[in-house]
Amino acid sequence: MLPMKHHLVLPLLGFVSFVLADLPSVSHVRVPNDTFEPVQIRQAYAGSTGMHLSWNTFAKLPAPPTVHYGFSPTFLPFLSSPHNGESVTYPTSLTYNNHVRLKQLFPNTKYYWKPAFSNASSIFSFTTARETGDHTPFTAAVVVDLGLIGPQGLSTTVGAGAAHPLQPGEINTIQSLQQHQDWDFLWHPGDIAYADYWLKEELQGFLPNTSIADGFHVYESLLNQFYDEMTPLTSQKPWMVGPGNHEANCDNGGTKGYDVTICIPGQTNFTGFRNHFRMPSSESGGLENFWFSFNHGMVHFVQFDTETDLGHGLLGPDQPGGSAGNPGEDSGPFGLADQQIQWLINDLKNVDRKKTPWVVAAGHRPWYVSGTACPECREAFEATLNQYSVDLVMSGHVHVYERSAPIFNGTVDPNGLNNPKFPWYITNGAAGHYDGLDTLSATLAPYSRAASDKYYGWSRLVFHNCTHLTHEFVKSADGTVLDSATLFKDRKC
Ligand SMILES: *[C@@H]1O[C@H](CO)[C@@H](O)[C@H](O)[C@H]1NC(C)=O
Ligand SMILES: *[C@@H]1O[C@H](CO)[C@@H](O)[C@H](O)[C@H]1NC(C)=O
Ligand SMILES: *[C@@H]1O[C@H](CO)[C@@H](O)[C@H](O)[C@H]1NC(C)=O
Ligand SMILES: *[C@@H]1O[C@H](CO)[C@@H](O)[C@H](O)[C@H]1NC(C)=O
Ligand SMILES: *[C@@H]1O[C@H](CO)[C@@H](O)[C@H](O)[C@H]1NC(C)=O
Ligand SMILES: *[C@@H]1O[C@H](CO)[C@@H](O)[C@H](O)[C@H]1NC(C)=O
Repeated sequence: MLPMKHHLVLPLLGFVSFVLADLPSVSHVRVPNDTFEPVQIRQAYAGSTGMHLSWNTFAKLPAPPTVHYGFSPTFLPFLSSPHNGESVTYPTSLTYNNHVRLKQLFPNTKYYWKPAFSNASSIFSFTTARETGDHTPFTAAVVVDLGLIGPQGLSTTVGAGAAHPLQPGEINTIQSLQQHQDWDFLWHPGDIAYADYWLKEELQGFLPNTSIADGFHVYESLLNQFYDEMTPLTSQKPWMVGPGNHEANCDNGGTKGYDVTICIPGQTNFTGFRNHFRMPSSESGGLENFWFSFNHGMVHFVQFDTETDLGHGLLGPDQPGGSAGNPGEDSGPFGLADQQIQWLINDLKNVDRKKTPWVVAAGHRPWYVSGTACPECREAFEATLNQYSVDLVMSGHVHVYERSAPIFNGTVDPNGLNNPKFPWYITNGAAGHYDGLDTLSATLAPYSRAASDKYYGWSRLVFHNCTHLTHEFVKSADGTVLDSATLFKDRKC
């Protein structure tokens, strides 16, 4: 056990000479300094007429954050209200998280914006959500378990735990998402950055330029680098996120063998995650970034939380007393007992399937997977997702790709993908991070229909119309589709 106090006396803004990952096609982000210049640009839907716009600054803004916006990059006549802006941080953060909520926008319309208090010339953009009930086809991208890429994360010389280092010149998932931008928004249901691996990476000799004594500076530096890597994507498209264990892990992802535990404040209890993102929970009756829903055209998307607040008296697997047998994630609860499940029931009950025939849900941990499943998640959520005819459930956590059959309570739907009654399950935790990929069980589960533990990749969801939905597993290295399957639902549109 290392004492923590000597890490905390360092000046909070003193460590700004980050080494940024050198990624060929991810735009080179300027080394940030202590001005108000915006970094880590990100955006999220807030209904079809609203957006959450967020960016970080190394210095505290002199007033509540606001943005200039408009319909053309050269004409930004509107200024958001200071009442719709907030800056938040936490004691060990190196930055301020600035959030602005825009309202009264037009649906499915492209806007351009830039933060106020900035000399930077960069203009960012977003397209608002398609109106609920708009049945035009669209594509969404899904990643789970996507961490820092580059010399301090997943790279060609990955540390001890890694099964699949990148090959020299191999296109990684962030780059692949950039090359194939046919998607409207990116959905990332948990495990964002893997900055909690900082201690493990130090112990494995992977961070030669810093030491354990640098403590939270290393953690925050990994986080900041990851958010910079995402900015070329997330400054142009919405990034919808949900909670994963690595937003709260305090066992540093496998440092137990080293008999060292340092759990720094930004790492505990989803602190960084709660500060960094703004999801449409007030718009959907949900809770912060933990559980919420949003419509996009003909689809109702639901993010649920498998880490905390399982309800039914159940604990998340990594909560103290949980099934993982260690308080690796000493976090939550964030709501009242059963608040999440009551919200979920209510949310699903109120979906207008005429307008949004498709309902797609995502939670970080899977329960149908040929690997370590989350039985308590299944107990908490499966019956509800089935009862309200959710079409597709996506998850990750296990770092493999596996497409299951539509299934309920262990019984495979006899119809397969041809108008099943039961929800379809897909696990895709193969986006890539420091530890590479996991290995599938030697014998695949009987409900398994396609599986891979060899390639990094992301999921492309194509909503063709109200009856056909295609899922593709896209191999990041070359953009090829390694698995494609189409779900058919026999319904009148
Ligand atoms: C901070 O960045 C701005 C914009 O790139 C630059 O003009 C300024 O000189 C930098 N300040 C310091 C202290 O490095
Ligand atoms: C913009 O530049 C001016 C002049 O260099 C400087 O005084 C001001 O602090 C800068 N503003 C920001 C937001 O960095
Ligand atoms: C350490 O610093 C050197 C020199 O700046 C740099 O080339 C190298 O990539 C850094 N290593 C890591 C893991 O960041
Ligand atoms: C985590 O934060 C929530 C909200 O502030 C709080 O209610 C809860 O007690 C915290 N849990 C732990 C384990 O610190
Ligand atoms: C699920 O299956 C078990 C036996 O495998 C059965 O006891 C239980 O009643 C089933 N639950 C539902 C909701 O069908
Ligand atoms: C829906 O899309 C599928 C896949 O593109 C297509 O085969 C089917 O004909 C479409 N249905 C209607 C009613 O257009």
